[in-house]
Amino acid sequence: MRNITVSVDCGLRIIILDRPEKKNALDQEMYHDLILALKEAASDEKTFITVITGRGDYYSSGNDITSGADFVSGDLKERINEACILIRNFVNAFIEFPKILVAAVNGPAIGIGVTTLGLCDVVYASDKATFHTPFVPLGISAEGCSTYTFPRIMGTSKAGDLLYFNYKMTAKEAKDCGLVSEVFPDSCFAEKVFGHLKKMVTMPSKSMIFTKALVRRWDVDELRKANEAECERLKERWGSEDFINAVVKFISRRNKL
Ligand code: COA
Repeated sequence: MRNITVSVDCGLRIIILDRPEKKNALDQEMYHDLILALKEAASDEKTFITVITGRGDYYSSGNDITSGADFVSGDLKERINEACILIRNFVNAFIEFPKILVAAVNGPAIGIGVTTLGLCDVVYASDKATFHTPFVPLGISAEGCSTYTFPRIMGTSKAGDLLYFNYKMTAKEAKDCGLVSEVFPDSCFAEKVFGHLKKMVTMPSKSMIFTKALVRRWDVDELRKANEAECERLKERWGSEDFINAVVKFISRRNKL
């Protein structure tokens, strides 16, 4: 796995988004590798709690926008279909993850790096983290089941601000609205989060995992449906002029510098 690093320490599995030079933007290979990493975590008897975090100053800058440029080479429809299947499988890996899944948001999170937080069991954030989902400026639509989870977590209005108006939330706001459980100072973020989780893995694992299953069972069908519907809409949006223009703008912005 080129841009994903995995380690296991006494029941605690750490999955690091390891592409700091691109602010941990998720390209197709990373989606594949993250699906595999989550499957491995789910099937490994020794893994009890899994935590996802980012290397460097960002948690994740979301979907790799330059992947959109690949759509224009080859059969556009086929490429978009493949990309949508990958996103759907990636999000399903979160929905179906049977053990405790924690996100340690070490810095800014964007797009799918934010939406999938609503599918994690516990989210901790550094005080340097911010949260925004620029779907509308990019001409695309929301994914990660955020159309289902966000209104339920934070209320319709705050979810609307995030999903429609590109509002950028601070870590404190994310905690106040329920997206984040606890905020730690950036200077001691890793120490606090991993110190805490190392204590949690000493507790009876079955009790925690069975409780998660009881919590998740009420929503699992709805989450799968939300994921399907969001991916269908994305399929249409990724082929739209709005998105193609946004990709060209992003790439040409880079080339001008
Ligand atoms: N997709 C592809 N590349 C990305 C990326 C993304 N989502 N986010 C960052 N990068 C790349 C940049 O192109 C740049 O690459 P380069 O060094 O080869 O030119 C590198 O990561 C560093 O980013 P840079 O823009 O120089 O850093 P910055 O601190 O000025 O800005 C961001 C960081 C994240 C604010 C900015 O890169 C950005 O807006 N990225 C797009 C985020 C986005 O819209 N994601 C999709 C959500 S649906």
